[in-house]
Amino acid sequence: MRVLVTGGAGYVGSTTAERLIAAGHEVVIYDSLLRGHRGAVPAQATLVVGDIGDATGLEKALRDNQIEAVLHCGGLALVGESVAEPDRYFEVNVVTGPKMLDAMRAAGVKRIVFSSSAAVYGEPLHTPIDEDHRLRPVNPYGETKRAFEGMLDWYSRAYGIGAMSLRYFNVAGATEERGEDHRPETHLIPNILAAFSGGAPLKVFGTDYETRDGTCIRDYIHVDDLADAHAAALAHTANIAGEHVPCNLGSGSGFSVLEVLEAARLVVGKEVPHEITGRRAGDPPVLVASNEKARAVLGWEPRHGTLAEMIGSAWAWRQRHPRGYE
Ligand SMILES: NC(=O)c1ccc[n+]([C@@H]2O[C@H](COP(=O)([O-])OP(=O)(O)OC[C@H]3O[C@@H](n4cnc5c(N)ncnc54)[C@H](O)[C@@H]3O)[C@@H](O)[C@H]2O)c1
Repeated sequence: MRVLVTGGAGYVGSTTAERLIAAGHEVVIYDSLLRGHRGAVPAQATLVVGDIGDATGLEKALRDNQIEAVLHCGGLALVGESVAEPDRYFEVNVVTGPKMLDAMRAAGVKRIVFSSSAAVYGEPLHTPIDEDHRLRPVNPYGETKRAFEGMLDWYSRAYGIGAMSLRYFNVAGATEERGEDHRPETHLIPNILAAFSGGAPLKVFGTDYETRDGTCIRDYIHVDDLADAHAAALAHTANIAGEHVPCNLGSGSGFSVLEVLEAARLVVGKEVPHEITGRRAGDPPVLVASNEKARAVLGWEPRHGTLAEMIGSAWAWRQRHPRGYE
């Protein structure tokens, strides 16, 4: 299959591109390089530097490369930044939506997988969260993901598009060649690894939650497992013309912050420099997504679900790339 990956110079997009190429697909990466890295683009992929809001440029890339399906990982993805700058988030993640989807229609591309987020759910009413859980995002980032999913709902029905939205929480880990290099970095595991390398000590926000050890429990998924799921979802879009199918990619269980710190201590061989501070506003005690639908629909399940694998591979990549993709 010929696939165009928006945001394919980023963490999730580049790793999935690597997986698609290994499976024999042809990959075109379409990225503005705002947050991604040229060095993350696999050598076998074609890189088109462009903005997802540029419908003409995108349509040309789709036509020139006879693209059959789009994997949409491009956009802005930082919760805190979205609260401070909602205008930018709506512009990049939502306003570009109809332009992108119309460029696809003009080029005759009727299959799309969207890297959404479990942030569409907001505060959970129950865990693990399933796809029927109400959608009530608690930050602009989640709201923009819900809005794009809404577009996919209506576009798929009206124009016979086969669409899947993959909803997941925290991605972690690395492949041999690709790892996480977000700037700024807000995720727990890379910030733990940065603390080992002389960065700021890690802040543990609250130890008095009603959880097994008092710290928040979160869902983590290995980036390699995520790449598998995206590849399976791309294949599945051939069967769902006229439908938009949301699907969680969760672990079903999750890990506490202290469990992550302990796993990192075992991987690296020393205590994570950290300090315990008070709770952070808006942090639910447990955020874990169910993976029952992903198992049933995509035949997917996490293969590298242990913290040792996620932190171990991320640490190994950092050792090989101490300055990331620089
Ligand atoms: N990393 C996670 O833990 C996580 C969790 C849940 C969902 N997601 C979703 O997965 C997707 C990818 O996440 P990531 O961690 O790889 O992020 P990332 O920032 O590494 O990648 C996003 C890519 O999009 C590109 N981009 C941004 N604006 C663009 C534009 N206007 N036109 C073209 N390209 C543009 C950036 O240059 C970057 O390469 C995001 O949509 C994010 O919401 C990520």
